[in-house]
Amino acid sequence: MGHGEKDTTEITNPQFPISNPQSPIPNLQSSNIQGFIFDLDGVLTDTAELHYLAWKKLADEEGIPFDREANEALRGVSRRASLMLILGDKPYSEAQIQEMMERKNRYYVELIQNMTPQDLLPGAIALLDELRQAGIKIGIGSASKNAQTVIERLGIADKIDAIADGYSVQEPKPAPDLFLYAAKQLGIEPEQSVVVEDAAAGIEAALAAGMWAVGLGPVERVGAAHVVLPSLEGITWADLREQLSHVSRQKR
Ligand code: BG6
Ligand code: MG
Repeated sequence: MGHGEKDTTEITNPQFPISNPQSPIPNLQSSNIQGFIFDLDGVLTDTAELHYLAWKKLADEEGIPFDREANEALRGVSRRASLMLILGDKPYSEAQIQEMMERKNRYYVELIQNMTPQDLLPGAIALLDELRQAGIKIGIGSASKNAQTVIERLGIADKIDAIADGYSVQEPKPAPDLFLYAAKQLGIEPEQSVVVEDAAAGIEAALAAGMWAVGLGPVERVGAAHVVLPSLEGITWADLREQLSHVSRQKR
């Protein structure tokens, strides 16, 4: 089944939501879900443009070609790995690499100061509130060392029970470490956890952790998730639980 459109934002699109019974379901029972772990960039807010502007400024200063298309490949990719992709084969010393990572981060930190609750993506706040009311724990699992600041700027700190960020673990996604750390902070088991992610590496990390995976975006990117949605817009906890229970049933 092809997924031709560039940007599938309609929940009414017949291709969505997609349940994927091929993905591993180790001991997963939708009735057991106790917590949600949200990736931040691209899930609760769209910082991709701000990361782009910061990388673009650095690339321009260094005379390296970089555009929005190249930026797409950096979704969910760590700061260092992003810089490596931008630099390509050009040789740089470790000191130069460190300086460039710091410079880019200065530009990015400047940009996120202007973020406000208006920068939350559609559907995010409604789902967070509904989950909280249902007694579901809420964690953040983000590769970013700026996650804390972004959460404060978005005004959602009081809705979050635990934050796993770029300081929490050594191994970046697709390793399961960050999500396992988040679940531990929440006091729940992996199989009681649902990860919501927009990056392929994040879905891989969630599955490797033995957690439920909900992918946001095109199937080409997040198709390995148990359930794929265009975005969080209009998504309720009741809908999601229903979708996940279909996956468990199909698998049995
Ligand atoms: C991820 C973003 O959440 O965090 C990436 O999707 C970013 O674009 C990565 O490179 C690291 O973020 P930071 O803020 O520590 O440079
Ligand atoms: Mg992301």
